[in-house]
Amino acid sequence: MKGLLIHGVSHAYGDNKVLDKVAVVVPAGELVCLLGPSGCGKSTLLRLAAGLEVLQEGSIVIDDVTVASNTVHVEPENRHIGFMFQDYALFPHLNVLDNVIFGMVGSAADKARSRAMEMLDQVGMVDQASKHPHTLSGGQQQRVALARALAPEPKLLLLDEPFSGLDTNMRARIREETLGVLKEFGVATLMVTHDPEEAMFMADRIKILGSDGHILQAARPHEIYYHPKHEFVAKMFGLMNRFDSVVVNSQVETPLGSVAAPDMADGIKVQVLIRPEGIVLESHENASGTAVELLSTHLLGHDNIVRVRLASGSSSELYVRVHHAFEPELALGIKATIDSDYAFVFPLDVEEGGSSSLVKAAQ
Ligand SMILES: Nc1ncnc2c1ncn2[C@@H]1O[C@H](COP(=O)(O)OP(=O)(O)O)[C@@H](O)[C@H]1O
Ligand SMILES: [Mg+2]
Repeated sequence: MKGLLIHGVSHAYGDNKVLDKVAVVVPAGELVCLLGPSGCGKSTLLRLAAGLEVLQEGSIVIDDVTVASNTVHVEPENRHIGFMFQDYALFPHLNVLDNVIFGMVGSAADKARSRAMEMLDQVGMVDQASKHPHTLSGGQQQRVALARALAPEPKLLLLDEPFSGLDTNMRARIREETLGVLKEFGVATLMVTHDPEEAMFMADRIKILGSDGHILQAARPHEIYYHPKHEFVAKMFGLMNRFDSVVVNSQVETPLGSVAAPDMADGIKVQVLIRPEGIVLESHENASGTAVELLSTHLLGHDNIVRVRLASGSSSELYVRVHHAFEPELALGIKATIDSDYAFVFPLDVEEGGSSSLVKAAQ
């Protein structure tokens, strides 16, 4: 198979086991994103794939060639891999063109030069070829790093939190441009990040790595967001509203209505997690649902976060994401219902207490 195959990889630093039988497949032309909290072993996995770390258990195959196993260790320079790491800085003493040429060891000088210019053209940096890195913005430096990574025509590209050093606007633009270039080149890419939005934007498929080094779910972005298989996966995308309840006839009652729990036996204690966009507020005369009181509204830009509380006297707060401009004069007679696309039922940890609360993001 063309691309990357990581099979049964476990890794420990002394007693600290950071990866536990991790498997990842990245077919040629696909971008797979490994998403997980800081410290869960993402960079370790990339360093193992790159050959910068010696493999302890499992195997790594690139384009049908085993590059690491318990008997094989191919050196990084012979793995035909491109890197783009957040802190994988450009060489400060080389200009942009020479930075890109640097990776193409073994190519004839004139060929390397024309290839480098071609790559700089691809990333819109050909005008800056003679400049030194310190005179460029962070975004421009990342574009040069991308050109340098792709110039030797790698079989595999490894991206380690490549945009995290950039400010918000620059990040959105650079990641979009990077994605365009990667899709054009069709190179197998494994990217790691702790930023769920970045993973959703970039990835063909996402793998969620939990803090214990296990893969918790692997699926397309849509599936990860709408059908999280694990509580940890559901919570990766930020604040969740939570009600604790019990399964009765494959349904779970909450103060805002019932939610289906088709695969769960009666009597199981569960938590219902509802995304802020999964609570629907209406205030017209015929609105149905549970009466809530407005506590505050916060305009975030493209949408609003509205804090409400059940009018029935329960003190728990709910966070609601409202896409249209939210009119405070609608504050009287607000009814809330659940959009079941954004509500998920998970078994409740038996030791846990509490009945309803907000749950902070997992990271
Ligand atoms: N060279 C090393 N020696 C010892 N411990 C390390 C080393 N590199 C990473 N670790 C530890 O391994 C764990 C995973 O690190 P890392 O792979 O960098 O995680 P991530 O990239 O997901 O933040 C962390 O607890 C980190 O402290
Ligand atoms: Mg890291």
